[in-house]
Amino acid sequence: MTAALQIENLEAGYEPGLPIVRGASLTVMPGEIVAILGPNGAGKSTLVKAAAGLVPISAGRVLLHGQDITRVPAHRMVFEGLAFVPQTENVFANLTIAENLELAAALLKADRRERLDPVYAMFPDLLRQRTLRAGRLSGGQRQMLAVARALIARPRVLVLDEPSAGLSPKLVGQVLAQLRTVRDSGVTVLLVEQNVKAALAVADRAAVLVEGRERVVAACDALRNDPIIAELYLGRHVAPVPTAGTH
Ligand SMILES: Nc1ncnc2c1ncn2[C@@H]1O[C@H](COP(=O)(O)OP(=O)(O)OP(=O)(O)O)[C@@H](O)[C@H]1O
Ligand SMILES: [Mg+2]
Repeated sequence: MTAALQIENLEAGYEPGLPIVRGASLTVMPGEIVAILGPNGAGKSTLVKAAAGLVPISAGRVLLHGQDITRVPAHRMVFEGLAFVPQTENVFANLTIAENLELAAALLKADRRERLDPVYAMFPDLLRQRTLRAGRLSGGQRQMLAVARALIARPRVLVLDEPSAGLSPKLVGQVLAQLRTVRDSGVTVLLVEQNVKAALAVADRAAVLVEGRERVVAACDALRNDPIIAELYLGRHVAPVPTAGTH
């Protein structure tokens, strides 16, 4: 089966000669939810931004359902079938829910009704509150709107950078659970997530990125039970070694 998204030996960064992503590879199969985990500064955001055309790629390839999309400019990515939800500023706070979604449809030169109806069907809360300005929504609802906006493009692959950032633990679970609904509608999902426990609960597989490369890629069940991975990369504390002079 052809991968939905294949990242091959990718090198990417913000300045020439200073790669942040250093030869990362990752395969996401159709219908999967895959999470990218890893410590702060590992290059998780840089990796997904590079795949989405937002950070320059110096080596490697990105394939979407077998089609080479390496270096497709960000604004063309939706037409290739990849939608990206950035971590911040992913909705227009001054516009209503409906206006946010209508604008997304207008930018695609797509029929408004035809695009909005299925998205409202998936997110009935957004339909109920459609006249509310996005800036007045709770963090969880705002993330839901950001996902809905991205789905207006009918992507084959949805890529999200920390959709649960800044949310309360309860909302983290809710927002991530919505990604299951998105997947069940036929969209493949790749997300960066800091909240390891919630990510492992919602994803099928996860990659642990360290210093710009994937260190481990495995089924979430296996990762959850791997004490070394948990200790080294997933932030579970090991008691510090006492030093002289401390009590
Ligand atoms: N716009 C930028 N210009 C230059 N360097 C950047 C830029 N954004 C990030 N970096 C650098 O790239 C490295 C990786 O950052 P990145 O944001 O990809 O990590 P991350 O794994 O997403 O971290 P976090 O968990 O904190 O979100 C860091 O050293 C960071 O300082
Ligand atoms: Mg990041």
